[in-house]
Amino acid sequence: MQTALSAQPDSFAFDAESEAAIAPILAKYPPGRQASAVLPLLDLAQRQMKRATGSAWVPRAAMDAVAARLAMPPIRVYEVATFYLMFNTRKVGTWHLQVCTTTPCWLRGSDEVTAACRRVTGITGWGETSADGLFTMTEVECVGGCVNAPIIQVNDDCYEDLDAESTVALLEALKRGAPPPMGSMKGRQGSAPEGGPTTLTTIAE
Ligand code: FES
Repeated sequence: MQTALSAQPDSFAFDAESEAAIAPILAKYPPGRQASAVLPLLDLAQRQMKRATGSAWVPRAAMDAVAARLAMPPIRVYEVATFYLMFNTRKVGTWHLQVCTTTPCWLRGSDEVTAACRRVTGITGWGETSADGLFTMTEVECVGGCVNAPIIQVNDDCYEDLDAESTVALLEALKRGAPPPMGSMKGRQGSAPEGGPTTLTTIAE
């Protein structure tokens, strides 16, 4: 298991795709207020690392590049990057399993989902990466989809209404590089009741 701090790259520079996105972001803020763009620029840096290395994380050099671009003291950027769980300050696997264990998900079976993740990936503790580098497991608080609990967020996508069996199927699909469509794993329509809508089932003439 990988638990040590990730080796830090010596340098980071925004690539052409990131640069194209930066100008419109900065244009949203009045002169002298560009520091307000720290969150979207950190996000751009993390997505660029995913494109370049396969791991979505923000190394120290990327934080320094954001600080330089926004004329901020680097420590202010470090504070933001280490505060928000959406930014990974160490390498993560190809598939970042963010397992919600907050009360609604827990009541609906997040313990079984967690156990299934551990069985399939071989990961024993939170924050670890599997030996094959495919998976990292992170415990997260509510991701805002309690109505279809329990939930795992995988990279940018949420998989809902999970149980042990569907979690195993999801992870096996991820291993094959074939993620299923995000959403309810029971086929529920949005957050409608299981079995289909019970109100507004007819359309007025
Ligand atoms: S408690 Fe898990 S999504 Fe809200």
